[in-house]
Order: sequence, then structure tokens, then C-alpha cells
Amino acid sequence: MWGDGGLRYGGDYNPEQWPAEVWREDVALMRRARVNLVTVGVFAWSRLEPAPGRYTFDWLDRVLDLLHDNDIRVALATPTASPPPWFSLAHPDSLPVTADGVRLHHGSRDTYCAAAPAYRAAARRVAAALADRYAHHPGVALWHVHNEYGTTCHCAHTGRAFRRWLASRYGDLDTLNAAWATSFWSQHYTDWAQVDTPRATQYLANPGHLLDFRRFWSDTLLAAYVEQRDLLRAAAPAVPVTTNYVLGDWVPVDHARWAAEVDVVAIDHYPDASDGGAEEQTALAADLARGWARHGARRRTGHAERAAPWLLMESAPGQIHTAGRMHAKEPGRMARHSLSHVARGSRGVMFFQWRAPAGGAERFHSALVPHAGPDTRVFREAVALGAAMERLSEVAGAAVEAEVAIAWDAASGWALDHPGMPSPRLSYRDEVHAAHRALWRAGFGCDVVPPGDPLDGYRLLVLPALYLASDATAEWARRHVHRGGHLLVTWLSGVADEHARVRLGGHPGALRDVLGVRVEEFHPLAEDETLPLRAGGTGHLWAETVRLAGATAVTSYAGGVLDGLPAVTRHRFGAGTAWYLSTRPDDATYRRLLTDAARSAGAAPVCPGAPAGVEAVRRRGAGTSWLFLLNHTDRPQRVPAAGVDLLTGATIDPEVHLPAGGAAVLREAAADH
Ligand code: GLA
Repeated sequence: MWGDGGLRYGGDYNPEQWPAEVWREDVALMRRARVNLVTVGVFAWSRLEPAPGRYTFDWLDRVLDLLHDNDIRVALATPTASPPPWFSLAHPDSLPVTADGVRLHHGSRDTYCAAAPAYRAAARRVAAALADRYAHHPGVALWHVHNEYGTTCHCAHTGRAFRRWLASRYGDLDTLNAAWATSFWSQHYTDWAQVDTPRATQYLANPGHLLDFRRFWSDTLLAAYVEQRDLLRAAAPAVPVTTNYVLGDWVPVDHARWAAEVDVVAIDHYPDASDGGAEEQTALAADLARGWARHGARRRTGHAERAAPWLLMESAPGQIHTAGRMHAKEPGRMARHSLSHVARGSRGVMFFQWRAPAGGAERFHSALVPHAGPDTRVFREAVALGAAMERLSEVAGAAVEAEVAIAWDAASGWALDHPGMPSPRLSYRDEVHAAHRALWRAGFGCDVVPPGDPLDGYRLLVLPALYLASDATAEWARRHVHRGGHLLVTWLSGVADEHARVRLGGHPGALRDVLGVRVEEFHPLAEDETLPLRAGGTGHLWAETVRLAGATAVTSYAGGVLDGLPAVTRHRFGAGTAWYLSTRPDDATYRRLLTDAARSAGAAPVCPGAPAGVEAVRRRGAGTSWLFLLNHTDRPQRVPAAGVDLLTGATIDPEVHLPAGGAAVLREAAADH
């Protein structure tokens, strides 16, 4: 199996870009770096099928054999994210159309419409040809379908597919009209033929329409994935199948929903903050992946699998892209990002890409083997990381500990994107990230879970901006508190139902009873506006007129029209406690509030003595635990901890000395926990 026997290490390998002499050097260097898994063929369609139905597999045969002979296993990709020029010319109706009605042309990648029958058929054909040829190749450990599903389209094929999807979701137009509130602005539909994709329009588009289009597109892409998966599975039942998730607000993919359809969740992660935010983004991405992996495993198997595997399929070896600028990762930072993913459950660390190409659009993207060759800092760090991955192999399969759960719901993010929201400054990802960052800085282990997932073992559940709450989601949170759990809800959660229709009677409609508050009015704040809080700190971005309906105020607004009104509240409900934040506190205040909420729920930081800037994550397997300590500061740090450092072999007691930017992974003695 792909994940057995330790951790995977490697990345995207593109031998089709190089002559065979370079392949031999590649494999020698891979061995030096202890690479044991590479993704091959991900953008190789035009080299695999240079003309319709004419396949040229000879080069791939040689590459797979060469890798296999050198004990390097392969995640064999289907190349369907980049159809060749001949395909686009032969099937112009498969080229995607933007919301403005512009048909795009061949010239980059991802230039296809996933609802176009000719594209889907061609994708199935090339995937079937690969399956036929390589299903029994001993080097193939994993199928890697496509690359980063996430493109969209507004062509006539899409319009027809959207109408079919809507008809099966709503049954009849009356139900659709009610869900989309089409009485507003004269949008009432009387014939299915009137319903189209949300193309560019004069002013604000219908929120329900936009939301359902995202859901539909997620399902359409999923169907494209599933049909490839099924034919690969039929050809090679023992080889697991995955696709690499791309994380980004533009992606019309509900990753939680997809998780049940992949054998292993795989993510690509490229932080875009070059300051300390990169480490916090890394932690959130990894925690999201772990949550999806568990969710998918539970849906597939029917029981909880705390250590469900997931894989970091792509990350950048040497760079962080910040607003178009490539910031070189400082020495040691690549390793710390990688270790953070492993600490948080990844079964390995993979990079985009193995060798930097001489040409092509991404010629300046970083690589394990840079343009300057292997005699470079980046390659030396890659070799050291490969050795570290081997030394860490015993952690593969251990569960990650967390006492706090944060909910993540793709649809809430999509709905909050609507330009008709009361503030243009709302971002779902920012709100989840702010809560996660506060917990990260306070040192609490945190899982990110899809709404509805089991909450046993979590002392505190955090719902940041969970804008859409179905009755079932509200009941899920309510039950958690009723049974004695603690809950912290932020502004804008529970305001709308699953169709993005506002729940009436005061916000947050779905959660008023459990929170013991009733919100009368929103007060979105301007960019330079803050509101002081009586207990210290400030509110940003948003404030509300909160009326107490059973809750007590933890702190109130000081000054302005909200002077004296509750800003943060607490409510006993059943056997538990529910907190409400009606504003976005500054980072330090948020951290303090979440620390109070977590501690009063009975949660403790992973490593109470760890100084600020040292990330601590604990994993636990049968009878053993491992403590990952990552020093993201530029100063040496001491952390009270004991055990054997897997990275150095040293026995540590009573404190570990971490060099600036250094890390330790301690196998803790059983008595230590
Ligand atoms: C994505 C893609 C890769 C590459 C990288 C660049 O993750 O999958 O092909 O384009 O981004 O960062």
C-alpha cells in the first residue's frame, strides 16, 4: 500500500520535459535524498496521446521501470487537467466559457469544460489506456487522478447540466423559486429553460443561484473524478486512488463531500504569507486535511478513524508566493513546514516539483533540484529532510491529539462571498483562520471538522462565521452543549439557512436559544475603525446590537452607539456553556478569550511550557506518544520536555534546547503522559 512502512517523500516528477540522460541523474539524486514516491505524468497528455487514439507509452514504460528498479514508487497521474491542442481544436465546444460569455482558448492548462461530453469521454479514454497498461506495474502505488480540480464554466453544456442538477435537487420550479427567493427583483421562473448558470449580470446576482451553482459545480467535478476513479479501480482494485485538493477561496469544490470518494485525502499547500503567517497557514491547511480524511474514512467505513491517512501532495521547496512575489524560504523553513504537516498527520511530504524546468510558464517555480543543480542549499536541505523523514517513520499511523474542534463549511464560505453582504470585508477563510491562529498561538491542539461530524472527545467547539446553518447543523451544535460540551460562536454564524435565506426573529437565528442572545442590528466597521471593549482590547470589522436573552455579558462595547451593550457573552445551556463573540477581537484579545473558553471547558495546551513561536503537536499511538516541537523563532529556545529526539537520537530530560529555526520530535516515555 502507498502509506505502509513509514512516510512518503518526493514530489511531482516530469521526465517528459527532459532527455533520458537526465532521468538517470534524477534517479541517482532521488536515491541520495531518499525519495520514495513521485507523481508522474500529471501534465503529460500531449506526450502520451500525440494524436487521437495513438498512444506513446514507451517513454513512460522506461521511466516506471527505472523508478521501480531504484525502489521509488509512483503515484501515476491521469493527465486530464491539460488536454492537448489537437483535442481543443477538434472539440471547440469543450473549451470553457467565462461568466462574461468569453470562450477561452488553448494556451495554458485547465482549458476545458468539465461538463462537456467530448472532454469527459476523452478523459475517460486516456485514463482507461493508462489503467490498461499500468494496472499491474509493480511500481504503481497510487493513482493520482487529474490535478487540482477547480475550474468552472458557463457554456451551453454546463447550462443543461445545471438545470438537470437543479431539477433533481428541487423537483419542481415552485420549490426552486422559494429556495432562491425569486419574488425579489422579479426573478420568478416559470419554465426550466429560463434558468441558466449565473452569468455576468447588471447588478447583484441572486445569492441562492450563486450558491447552488458552486454546489452543482462541485458535484460535476466530483462526477468527472469518480468516473476516472471507477475505471482505475476496476483495472487495479488494490491500488488506492486520490486527487490533489487545491485550497483557495475560488475553488468550487466541497472537499469534505469529496473526502468519502478518495482513498486518501491529498492536499497541495502553498502559504502566501512570508512572515510568521506562513506557519499558521500551514497548520490550518494540515488540520483541514486531517478533518477531511477522518470525515471521509467515517463515511466510507461507518466508524471513526482518528488516524485516517492523508498526504501533503504538493508544497514548494524553496519559495512562498506573496502577491506575485516569490519569497525564498529561509534555511530550515522548508523542513519546519514539512514537519508541521507530518506532526498534523500527513503520511508524507511531497513537493511541486522535483527538478526546475528550463522553459514553460512555471520555469521560475522552486524545485528540489533547482536550476543551479544539486550543489545548492535547497538540494542539501532536501537530502537532510529525506533522512529526517526516514527517522520519523514510526510516527506514521499515530493519531493527532486535539481537545478543540473548529467547524469548516465550504458552503458558508461561498455564501459569504456574495457582494450583497453588509460589509465588503468579509472572508470566511479569514474568520476561520483568525480563530485557528488564536488557538495555535495559545498552544491548543485543534481539529477542523465538517459540521455534523462526531464531537466526542472535544471539550470546545468553535463556529467561526458559520453563516449557513441548516436545522440539522444547529441541532448538532445544540446537542454538543446540552450534553456538557462548550461552544464558542462568532458573529454571522447561524444567520442564514442552507439556501442563504436569512432566519427571522433576530440573529443568529439558528443558534439564539443555545447562545441566549438576540441580535437586533449589525454594525459593520470601516477599515480604520475599531471599538474598544470594556475588559480590554478592541473589536474590528464588525459589531452588533446584542440583547441578552439568558446569557451574561463577558465584556461590553465601550463608547459609541453600542456603549455598554454586550460584545462577548456566555450562556449556560443544558450541561454546557456557549460563548458568543459579536465582533472580531484583535489577535491578542481573541487569543485570551479562546484560552479562557478552552480552559474553562477543561482543555489544556499541548506543551504548557512552550514559549511563543514554538509550535507543539502531540501524536499518540499504541502505548507511545510523540511530541513535535518546531521553533519558528530566530532565537534558540528551551522547552520543558523529555524523551528521545528521533531527529538526533539524543535523550532529552528535563528540557530540550531548540536552535533558532530548529525542531525536535520526542518519543515520550509512557510515564510522561
Ligand atoms: C499547483 C499545481 C502545480 C503547480 C503549483 C505551483 O499546486 O498543481 O502544477 O502549478 O501549483 O505552485
